[in-house]
Amino acid sequence: MSENKGFMAWIDARYPATQVWSEHLADYYAPKNFNFWYFFGSLAMLMLVNQILTGVWLAMSYKPDAALAFGSVEYIMRDVNWGWLIRYMHSTGASFFFIVIYLHMFRGLLYGSYRKPRELLWVIGVVLYVLMMATAFMGYLLPWGQMSYWGAQVIVNLFSTVPFVGEELGIFIRGDFVISDATLNRFFALHFLLPFLLCAVVFIHIVALHKVGSNNPEGIEIKKGPKGNKWSDTAPADGIPFHPYYSVKDIAGIIGFLILFSAALFFAPEMGGFFIEHPNFEPANPLKTPNHIAPVWYFTPFYAILRAVPSIAGSAFPGVVAMGAAIVVMFFLPWLDKSPVKSIRYKGPIYKVALALFVVSFVILGYLGVQPTSPGKTLLAQICSIIYFAFFLLMPWYSKIDKTKPVPERVTK
Ligand code: HEM
Repeated sequence: MSENKGFMAWIDARYPATQVWSEHLADYYAPKNFNFWYFFGSLAMLMLVNQILTGVWLAMSYKPDAALAFGSVEYIMRDVNWGWLIRYMHSTGASFFFIVIYLHMFRGLLYGSYRKPRELLWVIGVVLYVLMMATAFMGYLLPWGQMSYWGAQVIVNLFSTVPFVGEELGIFIRGDFVISDATLNRFFALHFLLPFLLCAVVFIHIVALHKVGSNNPEGIEIKKGPKGNKWSDTAPADGIPFHPYYSVKDIAGIIGFLILFSAALFFAPEMGGFFIEHPNFEPANPLKTPNHIAPVWYFTPFYAILRAVPSIAGSAFPGVVAMGAAIVVMFFLPWLDKSPVKSIRYKGPIYKVALALFVVSFVILGYLGVQPTSPGKTLLAQICSIIYFAFFLLMPWYSKIDKTKPVPERVTK
């Protein structure tokens, strides 16, 4: 690290600006073989910034009042300068944020990025995912459309199925006996707060990442390999400085992503009812239940698991437990995988089949979650739910007996 002079020297004597820049960017060595799947962390950060900026702008014209909310969103769409764009950047942005996060998580499954020493990094990631879901759920109530209202009604009622305390819990969340103005007000407050909590947790996620260093498509630790490259004698030989190599690569990823995001924004912002459901263009009406209530696509795999589990004595609580377990099980992934190798490149056929089945089941569950139920669909949802849980719960067994390939000493591809 070269000594700064003048203004930067003055700053550095008081704040470790140059030190942080070096440690985390210019002299931070990342594996040289990052591929397409490594774009999604920086894209997730981009989307978080997009959601906060567009969200704050929306809040300038939005009214969190049951009598005014729907109209204020229409006012943003029609009368506020560029309001339609800001609103769509936020609503389409939410869906794109989840697309990015699902791909980011899938990368972890491909390369075993959750394995030692990145267990905590993964666990913090799952916390981020849960926070994102809570934020998105509360955001969807705000336009006070039919699906906002009835979707929230259904989901909050799930909390009421909890034995003994359920009734009280539902009232506590809503602030009322039904979804009402009080609920809208508190959801708005929390929807404004949670993204800042997300920022704090993202910071912790990155601190954890920089403590252990990135994994890579080979699933081998570059820190353990030989040291010394043309930039540094002490850095891992198979690492390259994050800046400028990956800062530039990430910008290329961002440009590609923005092309796709813009295409959706300008040509299909509601994505045919997947990003904003059709009933949400009608104001909330507590006296008229829509024919079919379904959450937005990023929740539907879990919603399908919920519906797949039969009620006991008229209570949907077992389904609620299954839905919760589907998320909680993700926290344990680092300890379920007993394979001697990390990356799918060196894992055997069993893991490849298991991962493929898992992804297909997750997508089918997502599809079933937006559909009205039928006996055939419920059966399919039950099969897919079993595959979903089997992927995790049988992993300690199948990851041990799977035939793996020998892992190279160093990163070559
Ligand atoms: C707001 C959401 C999130 C943001 C902004 C974020 C950001 C990032 C960034 C910038 C990186 C480094 C670049 C990269 O490897 O792509 C990263 C790595 C990582 N993230 Fe996230 N992340 C988020 C959510 C998650 C979630 C939900 C999980 C998993 C449940 C997760 C697990 C990981 C793991 C395991 C790594 C290391 C990957 C490797 O080295 O192969 N993250 N994250």
